[in-house]
Amino acid sequence: MRMKYFMRRVEVTYEKTPTSIGIPVSKLRKQLHGSVICYPGNDLSSFPTRIKQLREIGTSEIIFEGSSKIGNLGVIGKGCVSVVLKARLKGSDDIVALKCRRVDANRESMKRDFELQKLANSFGVGPKAIIVSKDFFAMEFVDGIKVGKWLQRLKTRSPKKFLRRLIRDSLTQCFLLDHHKLDHGELSNPTKHILIRMDESGNLVPKVVVIDYESAGTKRKVSNLTSVAQFFFLGGWQSRKIRKILGLEGEKAKLLPLLKDYKLKNSLENFEKIMKYIQC
Ligand SMILES: Nc1ncnc2c1ncn2[C@@H]1O[C@H](COP(=O)(O)OP(=O)(O)OP(=O)(O)O)[C@@H](O)[C@H]1O
Ligand SMILES: [Mg+2]
Repeated sequence: MRMKYFMRRVEVTYEKTPTSIGIPVSKLRKQLHGSVICYPGNDLSSFPTRIKQLREIGTSEIIFEGSSKIGNLGVIGKGCVSVVLKARLKGSDDIVALKCRRVDANRESMKRDFELQKLANSFGVGPKAIIVSKDFFAMEFVDGIKVGKWLQRLKTRSPKKFLRRLIRDSLTQCFLLDHHKLDHGELSNPTKHILIRMDESGNLVPKVVVIDYESAGTKRKVSNLTSVAQFFFLGGWQSRKIRKILGLEGEKAKLLPLLKDYKLKNSLENFEKIMKYIQC
């Protein structure tokens, strides 16, 4: 019995894969890495053209690392449109986030995502877009955690200061998006689309980055700030926690008219009225 347990432990130790595997693009192999490069992996026919694109955009290395797994390879994130990997581009040691279009994605190309993110970058919002091809989009890698995960761990007795700054930064990014008429389109539940940055020592800082512009648009009515403010203050359990920490319990009714005014006219004045009211 004891032996069996011991054997099992040994087996596990030997099978354990390293948490970070860097592979030069020239060494990527269909059999080993096709399930990630051509995710979800049941059609690997585009593997050669995808490797060609990786070369064309100047990728030197793919780094399989991250909490999501495809087989035994780590990735930063998996979504409906893409998988996101760490990578390096030629001539730089910096890590980039590489958004790889899923083979079964309902989008023909990553180019629209890139163009709209470039637009957001032009007024200081979003991770810096670097280069794009049909199936790959390289951008600044944001070291941080999703706001949804952070809110899950947030204690109702937490100090107000960090939360206030975090909300101020989130709503400021949203105001900038609104002001430039770029509607993100997926901020009514921003849990996965707002990342909180970490500093070099791994400590969270009250600075956020709004990611993923594939559903964004410039021709519709913008609702970035109202969506995120509703989520933070008027929504479900997250908003109850936030209102408790900031001492805004029972204040829902007073915020609504301010949001309505802003919806009618997204001016700096109306934005500041909201910020003042929520003490951020
Ligand atoms: N620039 C980045 N830096 C760090 N992590 C990132 C970056 N971009 C995306 N990610 C991670 O990858 C995940 C998926 O990214 P993204 O939301 O852009 O992909 P998607 O395919 O559009 O996903 P979804 O279907 O959820 O919208 C994110 O939730 C995030 O964890
Ligand atoms: Mg998306």
